Parts: sequence; C-alpha cells; structure tokens
Amino acid sequence: MVNLITDQLNRPLHDLRISLTDRCQFRCNYCLPAEHVDVMRQQSQPGKHLSFKEITQAAQVFAQLGVHKIRLTGGEPLLRKGVPDLIRQLKNIKGIKDLAMTTNGSLLKAALPALVDAGLDRITVSLDAIDDVLFKKITGTQQSVKTIIDNIFECTDTQLQAIKVNCVIQKGVNEEQIIPILELFKGTRVEVRFIEFMDVGNLNNWHPDMVLSTAALLQKVHQYRGFQSTRCSDDKPVAHRYKFIDGLGTFGTISSISQPFCQDCSRVRLSADGQIYTCLFSQHGYDIRQLLNAPTQLKHRLTELWQHRSDQYSLERMKQHNKQSKRIEMFVMGG
Ligand code: GTP
Ligand code: 5AD
Ligand code: SF4
Ligand code: SF4
Repeated sequence: MVNLITDQLNRPLHDLRISLTDRCQFRCNYCLPAEHVDVMRQQSQPGKHLSFKEITQAAQVFAQLGVHKIRLTGGEPLLRKGVPDLIRQLKNIKGIKDLAMTTNGSLLKAALPALVDAGLDRITVSLDAIDDVLFKKITGTQQSVKTIIDNIFECTDTQLQAIKVNCVIQKGVNEEQIIPILELFKGTRVEVRFIEFMDVGNLNNWHPDMVLSTAALLQKVHQYRGFQSTRCSDDKPVAHRYKFIDGLGTFGTISSISQPFCQDCSRVRLSADGQIYTCLFSQHGYDIRQLLNAPTQLKHRLTELWQHRSDQYSLERMKQHNKQSKRIEMFVMGG
C-alpha cells in the first residue's frame, strides 16, 4: 500500500537518487578536484557499499512512500559491475515508472546494450567541453572527448526515451563552449542542459563570481539561434526547457543559484554506504543500513526523516554558505 508523505514545507517524496559508488575515474574540478583526491581515497570503502539486494530493499520501501522516479548516480555508477541486474530488480518494483542514470559516459559503449535491454528509460551524460584540451583540463582524465561524444551518439540509436547532456558552466573556464556544444547536438534528440556552477561540498573553491547566470547564458544563446520556452514533461522540473524556433532541438537550464527550485524539491538521496540525505547540501546523513532487512521499521524511519525535513539550502544560500559549514561532497552523496 502507498502512504504518501509530505515534509515540513508540504513537499511530497517522489524521486530517489541512488549512488552506486563514490568512486570515479574523473577528477572534475567542480566536483572532485585532483588535488583533493586523497579525501576520496581516505573516505571511500567500496567493500562497504550497499549490495544490489540492499538497494532494492530500500527502493521497495521508498516506492511505498510515493517514490516513482529513480536515478542511479555516483561517483561513476558504471564502475559497479552488474548494473543491468540492478536495473531489472528496480524496474520490477510496483510504482516505479521511470529509471534514469547519470554517468560520465566513459564506460558507456560496452555497457549500453545491456542497460537498455534491462529497462533503463533515460540517460544523462556529463559533458562540459568539446574541445579536447579543455575537456581533459576540466575532468582531469586522459580519455579523449571524442570517446564521450561517440558514446552519447550511440545512445541516440537505442530505445532510450531521453538522452540528456549535463554541462556545468564555470565563468571564464568553458563559457566559450556553450555554442559549439549546442551546434554539435543540433537536430539530434540529445538535450543539453546548462547548469549553474554550485557550491556543493567544500573542495571545489566555489565563488559567486565563477557562476555564469542563466540570464547571461540565455543572452549568449539568443545571439546564436532564436528559441522560446517550452513545456517539461515533469510537473516539478529542475530544468527550464526551451525549443529552438528553427525546430532543430531543445535545450535546458538548471539555475540552482539564480532561481532556486527548493519549493518543489521532492528528491531524496541514498549514498553507496547506506546514508540518507534529504538535501544536496546536507551536512550529515542518516544511516539506514541496519534497517534494510526490517521493511516496517525502515518505512517508519524514512517517514519520520521526510516528515521532519525542512531543507531549502539554495533559497538560503548566502546566509548558509558564509557559515563555512562542512557539507558532504557530491561524489559521496550522489549527484
Ligand atoms: P530529470 O528531470 O529526471 O531528467 O532529472 P534532473 O533534471 O534532476 O536531472 P539530473 O539528475 O541530471 O540533474 C541535473 C543536475 O541538476 C544535477 O547534476 C545537479 O547539478 C542539479 N540538481 C539535481 N537535483 C538537484 C537538487 O535537488 N538540488 C540542486 N540544488 N540541484 C540539483
Ligand atoms: N555544480 C553544478 N553541477 C555539478 N555537478 C557536479 N558538481 C557540480 C557543481 N559543483 C553535476 C554535473 C554532473 C552531475 C553528476 O552533477 O553536471 O553531471
Ligand atoms: Fe566524477 Fe561526475 Fe564528479 Fe566528474 S562530476 S568527478 S564525472 S562524479
Ligand atoms: Fe532540494 Fe536542497 Fe537542492 Fe533545495 S538545495 S532543491 S532542498 S536538494
């Protein structure tokens, strides 16, 4: 039976984001900068990651509380072996209507057929630059950007319902890539979403001056091709969507800094080590490991956590950010 629950701000629980691992081969400067990689090495305990059985047990209980969308994230989720098996198990849960994954795309070519066959509905690949030198500089990888781009195009030949590209814009770093990226995917079914650089965690040296606001971004895009706002399929979307008036595609903007969307936030995160986070900017999580074999108790605990939730960090950013609070890193809690 489904028990719909709401938090202190009357927000329902609809989306579950599950991190499969905190490990990643990339060292994106906005997420896991190379100079801080020892933080990951010290903290990460892959041996203690939740098993697929445990993840499925948790997801079953979440579905009973109103979750109907699941997104697999990381770190890099495809570093875990057997992800298609997990997808099959999650797709079997009553009430789960949508299963998506966010990946850096590096391992996608080999994994894609099995992921689609298992029932993955949608995919999002991170791509912040198509200039190879800049791509390598931002992501700290030796892999060529061509591999990632080819892998994104591979997705367009599958039955995946939606293929998106996440592009985090850092002012003065990759803003010149906005138009080339849009041009690359012009007329394809790949939707690029430009994300304002956020102050997640404590390692990425975020400063407000490094954020290119969505308003400034839209001005740049406007000079390139005309567009107009269009609907999102989701009723409480994170992104604003636009369609080009030449009919050759859409793009999106995610404006956590300039237009926070906390009032509609129905997302909960489960990390690879079994912690629940009720906000991307949380300073601590709640361990549910011990409850995974006790569904009634787990349901009770999750209900209690959600009903106590009052997070709205992005709406309070300037007050909170200045406190120098110790926030959990995004590669740890899941993107
Ligand atoms: P779909 O609508 O299901 O495609 O998912 P989405 O729009 O949530 O997409 P995705 O999971 O790819 O999120 C895109 C990016 O938006 C993330 O990588 C984050 O940078 C940002 N984001 C997602 N969820 C949140 C959130 O709860 N709070 C904030 N501040 N940013 C978020
Ligand atoms: N600001 C904005 N988006 C970020 N992501 C990771 N770190 C940040 C940040 N500091 C996004 C990337 C990636 C996803 C997992 O999270 O777009 O695609
Ligand atoms: Fe890895 Fe994604 Fe973080 Fe980049 S943003 S370091 S690909 S987890
Ligand atoms: Fe949700 Fe927290 Fe992001 Fe606001 S800042 S949208 S409450 S995850």
